[in-house]
Amino acid sequence: MIVALNNKSNLDKNEFLDYLGKLNNIKTNSKLILCPTFINIANFNSLTISLGSQNVSSKNDGAYTGEVSAKDLNSYNVKYCIVGHSERREYQKESDEEIKEKINRLIENNIIPILCIGETKQERINNSYKEILKKELDILNDINNSNIIIAYEPIWSIGTGIIPTKEEIIEVFDFIKSIIPNCKVLYGGSANTNNIDMLKSINQIDGYLLGGLSLKPDDLQVFLDKLN
Ligand code: 13P
Repeated sequence: MIVALNNKSNLDKNEFLDYLGKLNNIKTNSKLILCPTFINIANFNSLTISLGSQNVSSKNDGAYTGEVSAKDLNSYNVKYCIVGHSERREYQKESDEEIKEKINRLIENNIIPILCIGETKQERINNSYKEILKKELDILNDINNSNIIIAYEPIWSIGTGIIPTKEEIIEVFDFIKSIIPNCKVLYGGSANTNNIDMLKSINQIDGYLLGGLSLKPDDLQVFLDKLN
Protein backbone atom coordinates (compact mmCIF):
# COMPACT_ATOMS: atom_id res chain seq x y z
CA MET A 1 0.00 0.00 0.00
CA ILE A 2 1.06 3.56 -0.68
CA VAL A 3 0.33 6.00 2.14
CA ALA A 4 0.97 9.63 1.24
CA LEU A 5 0.93 12.22 4.02
CA ASN A 6 -0.22 15.71 3.12
CA ASN A 7 0.81 18.04 5.93
CA LYS A 8 -0.92 20.96 4.13
CA SER A 9 0.07 24.35 5.59
CA ASN A 10 0.97 22.99 9.04
CA LEU A 11 4.06 22.49 11.24
CA ASP A 12 6.63 25.25 11.67
CA LYS A 13 10.32 24.31 11.66
CA ASN A 14 10.53 23.14 15.29
CA GLU A 15 7.17 21.38 15.18
CA PHE A 16 8.23 19.63 12.00
CA LEU A 17 11.55 18.39 13.41
CA ASP A 18 9.75 16.99 16.46
CA TYR A 19 7.11 15.40 14.22
CA LEU A 20 9.70 13.91 11.84
CA GLY A 21 11.47 12.25 14.77
CA LYS A 22 8.19 10.49 15.65
CA LEU A 23 7.42 9.63 12.03
CA ASN A 24 10.82 8.04 11.59
CA ASN A 25 9.94 5.58 14.40
CA ILE A 26 6.82 4.35 12.64
CA LYS A 27 6.79 0.67 11.70
CA THR A 28 4.89 -0.36 8.59
CA ASN A 29 5.00 -2.48 5.44
CA SER A 30 3.33 0.35 3.50
CA LYS A 31 5.28 2.80 1.40
CA LEU A 32 5.19 6.16 3.18
CA ILE A 33 5.47 9.41 1.22
CA LEU A 34 5.71 12.59 3.27
CA CYS A 35 4.59 15.84 1.63
CA PRO A 36 5.61 18.66 3.99
CA THR A 37 5.46 22.40 3.30
CA PHE A 38 7.96 23.65 0.70
CA ILE A 39 10.16 25.12 3.41
CA ASN A 40 10.18 21.92 5.46
CA ILE A 41 11.35 19.97 2.42
CA ALA A 42 14.77 21.40 3.28
CA ASN A 43 14.42 20.02 6.85
CA PHE A 44 13.46 16.51 5.71
CA ASN A 45 15.71 13.63 6.67
CA SER A 46 14.66 9.99 6.63
CA LEU A 47 16.06 6.61 5.65
CA THR A 48 12.66 4.96 5.28
CA ILE A 49 10.18 7.60 4.10
CA SER A 50 10.05 9.04 0.56
CA LEU A 51 9.81 12.76 0.03
CA GLY A 52 6.94 14.48 -1.76
CA SER A 53 5.87 18.03 -2.39
CA GLN A 54 2.39 19.59 -2.19
CA ASN A 55 2.83 21.79 -5.25
CA VAL A 56 5.21 22.79 -8.04
CA SER A 57 5.54 25.66 -10.48
CA SER A 58 4.04 25.16 -13.93
CA LYS A 59 7.14 26.94 -15.29
CA ASN A 60 10.82 26.05 -15.52
CA ASP A 61 13.42 28.07 -13.58
CA GLY A 62 13.24 31.80 -14.26
CA ALA A 63 11.65 35.11 -13.37
CA TYR A 64 8.59 33.73 -11.54
CA THR A 65 8.69 35.31 -8.10
CA GLY A 66 7.62 32.98 -5.31
CA GLU A 67 7.44 29.85 -7.45
CA VAL A 68 9.39 26.62 -6.83
CA SER A 69 10.44 24.69 -9.94
CA ALA A 70 10.40 20.93 -10.46
CA LYS A 71 14.16 21.07 -11.11
CA ASP A 72 14.67 22.66 -7.69
CA LEU A 73 12.44 20.01 -6.02
CA ASN A 74 14.39 17.27 -7.77
CA SER A 75 17.63 18.67 -6.37
CA TYR A 76 16.15 18.14 -2.86
CA ASN A 77 15.40 14.50 -3.70
CA VAL A 78 11.66 15.04 -4.04
CA LYS A 79 10.28 11.91 -5.74
CA TYR A 80 6.50 12.64 -5.73
CA CYS A 81 4.36 15.76 -6.00
CA ILE A 82 0.66 16.37 -5.31
CA VAL A 83 -1.00 18.33 -8.12
CA GLY A 84 -4.53 19.56 -8.58
CA HIS A 85 -5.51 19.34 -4.93
CA SER A 86 -9.06 20.68 -4.55
CA GLU A 87 -7.85 23.32 -2.08
CA ARG A 88 -5.54 24.73 -4.76
CA ARG A 89 -8.21 24.44 -7.45
CA GLU A 90 -10.55 26.44 -5.18
CA TYR A 91 -8.33 28.98 -3.39
CA GLN A 92 -5.61 29.49 -6.02
CA LYS A 93 -8.04 29.05 -8.91
CA GLU A 94 -5.78 26.45 -10.51
CA SER A 95 -7.10 25.40 -13.91
CA ASP A 96 -6.83 22.01 -15.60
CA GLU A 97 -4.48 23.66 -18.15
CA GLU A 98 -2.12 24.82 -15.40
CA ILE A 99 -2.29 21.44 -13.66
CA LYS A 100 -1.38 19.78 -16.95
CA GLU A 101 1.69 22.04 -17.29
CA LYS A 102 2.72 21.16 -13.72
CA ILE A 103 2.49 17.45 -14.56
CA ASN A 104 4.67 18.02 -17.63
CA ARG A 105 7.34 19.84 -15.56
CA LEU A 106 7.30 17.01 -12.99
CA ILE A 107 7.70 14.26 -15.58
CA GLU A 108 10.55 16.18 -17.25
CA ASN A 109 12.29 16.23 -13.85
CA ASN A 110 11.65 12.59 -12.91
CA ILE A 111 9.11 13.37 -10.18
CA ILE A 112 5.96 11.22 -10.00
CA PRO A 113 2.77 13.32 -10.02
CA ILE A 114 -0.06 12.47 -7.62
CA LEU A 115 -3.03 13.96 -9.46
CA CYS A 116 -5.99 14.76 -7.20
CA ILE A 117 -9.49 14.58 -8.60
CA GLY A 118 -12.88 14.74 -6.91
CA GLU A 119 -16.39 16.09 -7.03
CA THR A 120 -18.27 18.54 -4.80
CA LYS A 121 -21.32 17.51 -2.77
CA GLN A 122 -23.55 19.23 -5.32
CA GLU A 123 -21.95 17.36 -8.22
CA ARG A 124 -22.49 14.11 -6.33
CA ILE A 125 -26.15 14.96 -5.64
CA ASN A 126 -26.96 16.01 -9.21
CA ASN A 127 -25.20 12.92 -10.54
CA SER A 128 -22.62 14.80 -12.64
CA TYR A 129 -19.65 13.40 -10.69
CA LYS A 130 -18.47 11.01 -13.40
CA GLU A 131 -18.48 13.81 -15.94
CA ILE A 132 -16.40 15.96 -13.57
CA LEU A 133 -13.92 13.18 -12.84
CA LYS A 134 -13.61 12.39 -16.55
CA LYS A 135 -12.89 16.06 -17.31
CA GLU A 136 -10.21 16.18 -14.61
CA LEU A 137 -8.64 13.01 -16.03
CA ASP A 138 -8.80 14.27 -19.62
CA ILE A 139 -5.66 16.37 -19.05
CA LEU A 140 -3.72 13.10 -19.08
CA ASN A 141 -4.85 12.29 -22.63
CA ASP A 142 -1.67 13.36 -24.41
CA ILE A 143 0.67 12.74 -21.48
CA ASN A 144 2.54 9.49 -20.95
CA ASN A 145 0.56 8.49 -17.89
CA SER A 146 2.25 5.18 -17.12
CA ASN A 147 3.93 6.60 -14.03
CA ILE A 148 1.23 8.83 -12.58
CA ILE A 149 -0.67 8.21 -9.35
CA ILE A 150 -4.30 9.33 -9.12
CA ALA A 151 -5.84 10.35 -5.79
CA TYR A 152 -9.63 10.31 -5.62
CA GLU A 153 -10.59 12.86 -2.99
CA PRO A 154 -14.32 13.66 -2.89
CA ILE A 155 -14.31 17.34 -1.84
CA TRP A 156 -17.22 16.74 0.53
CA SER A 157 -15.12 14.18 2.42
CA ILE A 158 -12.04 16.32 3.00
CA GLY A 159 -11.81 17.27 6.66
CA THR A 160 -15.51 16.52 7.26
CA GLY A 161 -15.35 13.06 8.84
CA ILE A 162 -17.81 11.87 6.18
CA ILE A 163 -16.71 9.28 3.63
CA PRO A 164 -18.52 7.73 0.65
CA THR A 165 -20.06 4.28 0.99
CA LYS A 166 -18.13 1.20 -0.06
CA GLU A 167 -20.31 0.91 -3.18
CA GLU A 168 -19.70 4.57 -4.12
CA ILE A 169 -15.94 4.13 -3.77
CA ILE A 170 -15.89 0.91 -5.80
CA GLU A 171 -17.93 2.56 -8.56
CA VAL A 172 -15.57 5.53 -8.82
CA PHE A 173 -12.37 3.46 -8.61
CA ASP A 174 -13.59 1.10 -11.35
CA PHE A 175 -14.50 4.15 -13.41
CA ILE A 176 -11.05 5.76 -12.97
CA LYS A 177 -9.26 2.50 -13.72
CA SER A 178 -11.35 2.01 -16.87
CA ILE A 179 -10.11 5.40 -18.13
CA ILE A 180 -6.49 5.11 -16.97
CA PRO A 181 -5.72 1.39 -16.82
CA ASN A 182 -2.77 0.16 -14.76
CA CYS A 183 -2.43 3.29 -12.70
CA LYS A 184 -2.38 3.32 -8.92
CA VAL A 185 -5.38 5.04 -7.35
CA LEU A 186 -5.36 6.37 -3.78
CA TYR A 187 -8.35 7.30 -1.62
CA GLY A 188 -8.29 10.60 0.26
CA GLY A 189 -10.85 12.37 2.47
CA SER A 190 -11.34 11.74 6.20
CA ALA A 191 -9.60 8.37 6.11
CA ASN A 192 -8.94 7.49 9.75
CA THR A 193 -8.56 4.74 12.34
CA ASN A 194 -12.36 4.29 12.56
CA ASN A 195 -13.10 3.76 8.87
CA ILE A 196 -9.93 1.97 7.75
CA ASP A 197 -11.48 -1.47 8.37
CA MET A 198 -14.19 -0.70 5.80
CA LEU A 199 -11.78 1.01 3.39
CA LYS A 200 -9.26 -1.81 3.43
CA SER A 201 -11.96 -4.27 2.36
CA ILE A 202 -12.05 -2.45 -1.02
CA ASN A 203 -9.60 -4.26 -3.32
CA GLN A 204 -9.53 -1.43 -5.84
CA ILE A 205 -7.83 0.98 -3.37
CA ASP A 206 -4.04 1.04 -3.88
CA GLY A 207 -3.33 3.41 -1.00
CA TYR A 208 -4.34 6.57 0.82
CA LEU A 209 -3.71 10.30 0.83
CA LEU A 210 -4.05 11.51 4.41
CA GLY A 211 -4.50 15.08 5.62
CA GLY A 212 -5.55 15.40 9.28
CA LEU A 213 -4.26 11.96 10.22
CA SER A 214 -0.84 12.76 8.76
CA LEU A 215 -0.29 15.20 11.63
CA LYS A 216 -0.89 12.59 14.38
CA PRO A 217 1.92 9.99 14.34
CA ASP A 218 0.38 7.85 17.12
CA ASP A 219 -2.99 7.54 15.34
CA LEU A 220 -1.15 7.06 12.05
CA GLN A 221 0.66 4.05 13.54
CA VAL A 222 -2.72 2.55 14.54
CA PHE A 223 -4.05 3.18 11.00
CA LEU A 224 -0.97 1.56 9.42
CA ASP A 225 -1.13 -1.44 11.78
CA LYS A 226 -4.71 -2.04 10.65
CA LEU A 227 -3.62 -1.86 7.00
CA ASN A 228 -0.88 -4.46 7.36
P1 13P B 1 -8.28 14.85 5.43
O1 13P B 1 -7.63 13.49 5.58
O2 13P B 1 -7.93 15.81 6.54
O3 13P B 1 -9.74 14.75 5.16
O4 13P B 1 -7.61 15.52 4.12
C1 13P B 1 -7.54 14.79 2.96
C2 13P B 1 -6.71 15.54 2.01
O5 13P B 1 -7.10 16.60 1.54
C3 13P B 1 -5.40 14.97 1.66
O6 13P B 1 -4.86 15.61 0.54
